[in-house]
Amino acid sequence: MKALILSGGTGSRLRPLTYTGAKQLIPVANKPILFYAIEAIRDAGIDEIGIIVGDTREEVKRAVGDGSLWGVKVTYIEQDAPRGLAHAVKISADFIGDDDFLMFLGDNLVRDGVSAFANQFRTNRPNSLILLSRVPDPQRFGVAELTNGRVVRLIEKPQVPPSDLALVGVYLFDKNIFTAVNAIKPSWRNELEITDAIQYLVDHGHVVDSHVIDGWWKDTGKPEDVLEANRMMLEYIETDICGTVDADSQIFGRAVIDADVEIINSVIRGPVVIAKGARIVDSYIGPFTAISERVQVLGSEVENSILLQGTVIAQIPTRIDSSLIGKNVRISRIKERPKALNFVLGDNSRADVQ
Ligand code: DAU
Repeated sequence: MKALILSGGTGSRLRPLTYTGAKQLIPVANKPILFYAIEAIRDAGIDEIGIIVGDTREEVKRAVGDGSLWGVKVTYIEQDAPRGLAHAVKISADFIGDDDFLMFLGDNLVRDGVSAFANQFRTNRPNSLILLSRVPDPQRFGVAELTNGRVVRLIEKPQVPPSDLALVGVYLFDKNIFTAVNAIKPSWRNELEITDAIQYLVDHGHVVDSHVIDGWWKDTGKPEDVLEANRMMLEYIETDICGTVDADSQIFGRAVIDADVEIINSVIRGPVVIAKGARIVDSYIGPFTAISERVQVLGSEVENSILLQGTVIAQIPTRIDSSLIGKNVRISRIKERPKALNFVLGDNSRADVQ
């Protein structure tokens, strides 16, 4: 069995962060979302992974390399434009050959991994196995209708969902999927939809089974989803303090503080992760916060947030909460008159002020 991870696409709902980086590389608990997918696939016993890359190909290649970090072999497959999930399958035909394969959308996080899912496929050998989860808002997803556990109908983002069973972005296929992706036509949004390809399998008498998970998963499509994923993954950290914590600082709860971090006269209330090169001075870092490399928090309070590499927060009088802040951002208080807010924000930025 091989695996395909989809790491192309545009990430339009995560702008402005995705103007400068791949959405699949946004860190959750200080680890890129894509790395969780690679680990889940490796843990399911698969060591040959094709990664679909688009505009952000260089950044993805730099982060993942040849896969040896995880003991897997990675092959990159170039997609010229995000023409749909079934298009990604179509262009992977040479890489997959006649093998079965697990397809994983690179912006999805499945807390309990995909080993049980892969094993169900290996045991029962359907033509396709789809991963489902009950959700309160099925209109946001592909939705499945089942009869006795077998898939009878799939609809992509329906206005009137036939069930609350959303397609989690993980699928298993045998080689029949290639006939399907070559037979279907683009949808109203001009994409080759994987839901249409799976429906083709159903309509042509192939067996499409389902596996419903009750564990936590997230499609990290929007900023609030990324923050929720961060909260979930921080629940699993174990305290590991390598950096310098001075005598005037206090750490409560679980915290991972990397080497070369300085904590001076500050309070850290976990779960919190702080990456190497960061400086926290005269500040409070509250629960569910992830701080990337070289961030500085000076005279400020931050909680339930993600701060990316090189960002500086200095002397902010109000606590920063539930925020996703990109790389090399500077938020600081100045004393000069006039007393006013002063912004330099990129397109599609958001600043909420009280
Ligand atoms: O997250 C689960 C949902 O994922 C499913 O419920 C839907 O049925 C499925 O269509 C998909 O919906 P999204 O609208 O969330 O898909 P998105 O466009 O965000 O793409 C998912 C991932 O695949 C993302 O990491 C980008 C990548 N991608 C996407 C397209 C369209 C590619 O690599 N190439 C593509 O052509």
